[in-house]
Amino acid sequence: MIEFKKVTKSYDKRTLILKNIDFKIKTGEFVVLIGESGCGKTTTMKLINRLIDPSSGVVLIDGEDISTVDPIILRRRIGYVIQKEGLMPHMTIGENIELVPKLLKWEKERRKNRAYELLNLLNLDPEIYYEKYPHEVSGGQKQRVGIARALATNPDIILMDEPFSALDPITRESIQDEVLKLQKELGKTIIFVTHDMDEAIKLGERIAFLKDGEILQFDTPDEILKRPASEYIEQFIGKDRIWKTPKKLLVSDIMSKHYWTIEKRSNISRAFNLLKTHDTDFLIVTETEGGRYSEPIGIIFRKNLIYAMENNILRVRDIMDKEFTTIDKDSNLLDVLNKMSSINAKVIPVVDDRNRLTGVITNLGLVNAISKIAPSPEVEEESIGMGDAV
Ligand SMILES: Nc1ncnc2c1ncn2[C@@H]1O[C@H](COP(=O)(O)OP(=O)(O)OP(=O)(O)O)[C@@H](O)[C@H]1O
Ligand SMILES: [Mg+2]
Repeated sequence: MIEFKKVTKSYDKRTLILKNIDFKIKTGEFVVLIGESGCGKTTTMKLINRLIDPSSGVVLIDGEDISTVDPIILRRRIGYVIQKEGLMPHMTIGENIELVPKLLKWEKERRKNRAYELLNLLNLDPEIYYEKYPHEVSGGQKQRVGIARALATNPDIILMDEPFSALDPITRESIQDEVLKLQKELGKTIIFVTHDMDEAIKLGERIAFLKDGEILQFDTPDEILKRPASEYIEQFIGKDRIWKTPKKLLVSDIMSKHYWTIEKRSNISRAFNLLKTHDTDFLIVTETEGGRYSEPIGIIFRKNLIYAMENNILRVRDIMDKEFTTIDKDSNLLDVLNKMSSINAKVIPVVDDRNRLTGVITNLGLVNAISKIAPSPEVEEESIGMGDAV
């Protein structure tokens, strides 16, 4: 078990990078640390293998205060995988994996057997990869080698600091699956840092949610999704997940209630007045007066009114656009985008299960809705930065 007891960390004695980290990780557990850039994930992780020491408080492993343990000996029990896999470029993959065993003066044969065993475990054919150099393999393969190296001396704890953030989504999925399988088979305690909520949910048995050097919530993924401890967490989850899963974004979340209706028997002068008074581009035509809760039967745009004037037509029903489509309020963003592009609609009335008007989707409204939930520019720049770093 790894236990943090009231741990704080500051580098300059003024700013507390970690304010109060107090949590326990069970032996064999897969714990994910998640939070925004700079919240203290890496700092928390480095306290476990004593790359840094706390300013106050203690870290215990299996009940032992690690400040009393020689860091070199401690680190033999703890594998470490970092974002850039950190392989030595002038060493072969075999030599990279055997680095620590060699320091520990293992015989060559034992080292090589171990490297072969680990390459097989990570689905890299040793006959092909053992002699290769890091620059001769792909990003995903390098990351696998990084994991193999962390496992070399069979540590019971593995720290993984954003190990997959630079990988493409498909490689990332498959290597996530492998790590899950490894953990099941080998029963390691894994502490895994990520920015990515989907990754956290997929991998973590429990997720520790950090903000400004504090743990806001430490719970199972299910519990965090169902009962986020604060609005901040809810937003973090929502923004991230909804953006990646447009099917979760329902029409009722993005539709506008900002529209006006007109009854089909109305005179077009009323339509003129409504458009002018409300400064809107369209009116939804309904069967009856006060038609907010009746079926939409047409749409009036300015061009229809111009047509009415030119042709001396008086009634709304005789000029309205009948070629329109409606969308159900329970459909999702993808349905909307499909519909909009297939019929080139500017306005789509939203209806409930009884075909009653409940809202509208407009081009502009859609763009606004998407921009509200889209990742902020900072996040984008950062992920570009991470890609460049590799
Ligand atoms: N050696 C150091 N000296 C001074 N400040 C540091 C040092 N290392 C980290 N910090 C600061 O501590 C804070 C937490 O950093 P940390 O690396 O733990 O964040 P993180 O959550 O891992 O962020 P990211 O997601 O960007 O990796 C940051 O504000 C960082 O600037
Ligand atoms: Mg970090």
